[in-house]
Amino acid sequence: MNEKHVRVGLVGFGTVGTGVAKLIYEEGDAIAAKTGVRLELACVVDVDTQRPRPVPLPEGVLTSDLNRLIADPGIAIGIELVGGTGIAKDIQLQMLHAGKDVVTANKALLALHGGELYQVAHENGRCIAFEASCAGGIPIIGAIRSGLAANQITGMFGIVNGTCNYILSSMSTKDEAFGAALAKAQKRGYAEADPTLDISGGDSAHKLAILASIAFGGEIGLEDIFVQGLDGIAREDIRYGREMGYCLKLLAIAQRNAEGKISLRVHPSFIAADSWLARVDGSFNAISVFGNAVGETFYYGRGAGMMPTASAVVADLIDVALGNSRTLFESLRLKPREEVKPLLEKIDDCVSRFYVRVMAKDKPGVVARYGKILGDHAISISGVLQHEGDGPSNTVPVVITTHKTQEKNMREALAELTRTDVISGKPVCIRIVDIPQDKDT
Ligand code: HSE
Repeated sequence: MNEKHVRVGLVGFGTVGTGVAKLIYEEGDAIAAKTGVRLELACVVDVDTQRPRPVPLPEGVLTSDLNRLIADPGIAIGIELVGGTGIAKDIQLQMLHAGKDVVTANKALLALHGGELYQVAHENGRCIAFEASCAGGIPIIGAIRSGLAANQITGMFGIVNGTCNYILSSMSTKDEAFGAALAKAQKRGYAEADPTLDISGGDSAHKLAILASIAFGGEIGLEDIFVQGLDGIAREDIRYGREMGYCLKLLAIAQRNAEGKISLRVHPSFIAADSWLARVDGSFNAISVFGNAVGETFYYGRGAGMMPTASAVVADLIDVALGNSRTLFESLRLKPREEVKPLLEKIDDCVSRFYVRVMAKDKPGVVARYGKILGDHAISISGVLQHEGDGPSNTVPVVITTHKTQEKNMREALAELTRTDVISGKPVCIRIVDIPQDKDT
């Protein structure tokens, strides 16, 4: 087979950049034999050219001068692994204007400015490939763009943040405290430089914005996504939930309702303990994608870390070199926001079941009173859990699960409950997500 020699330039020699260099050097021959593409790492640009890295570069490859990459017409593909939404955007724009295709893992940038960057790429006859931006090593973008191309996507339910999943798994299986689990996730290199992006649900929202744009073909931004992170999640809720048959996950959800509107949200979710997603532990990611023709498909793998993310970056380099990414990118024409907005479901209208934990006053008539408040807001109780025991100020923890109701009903009921003297403190409320079942009958 004739080899296609492709020179690439990398900006950002951090964790993932090091993994990319390692793959190109160590797997270059195997990749060339398998795909016919011989990748040459022509230059690596980083502000820090002194720090020793685990992968040594040949003399002269590492530079702090971005212009070495931009001004070299022989470099066909620029890899942006700087991250963030500031300088990274400028770097991608310079690459596109200089006639280079771009490969990136930068989910925050694409979630915020994807529409604009894609436009510039189209104007310059270039493409942007971004498989590594969502769920690390899992080829989820390729699956949605190509593998499921014949389908209308009806729903996506994803664990797309390894840090949060690691924390929830550790709290659940090792009874670890939130802070201790987060510290371990950071030590293992899963967390973002600023871990509030993980914990707040922001990182999951970035990925959901990208996946939903592709799945539904529109300009979807962060402002379209309801986001709630792990703040306030307590070990006792994980325990009570387990007792009632549920497992707690931070889910990124895109779901088409009966009227065709799409609900986009990231929030802690109780899901059936025997579902596929409930079995996804540690830093692993997984996404269930439903198509109208195919039914449920499930993608699982490592969503963070040096080599899994590098695996997706190098796959993109190969696909760009082969021309596959260009073909797919040319068909990526996203509906403008004005057309997309009316198609999105507001969070208040979203229907789901709920888990509510209150510290109820341990005195006569309390069950009837909270039952009535929920009933008055059209909320039907599905299950109640109350163990005998003494809480502070003569209270007892009560866990209630509900049947389906609109989000706004629950919000109003909780506000009323909080105003009464039947509970102490604020109720804890976690959504229960019923992932559609696609089973043989
Ligand atoms: N901080 C991210 C995570 C890294 O924990 O999943 C991958 O995007």
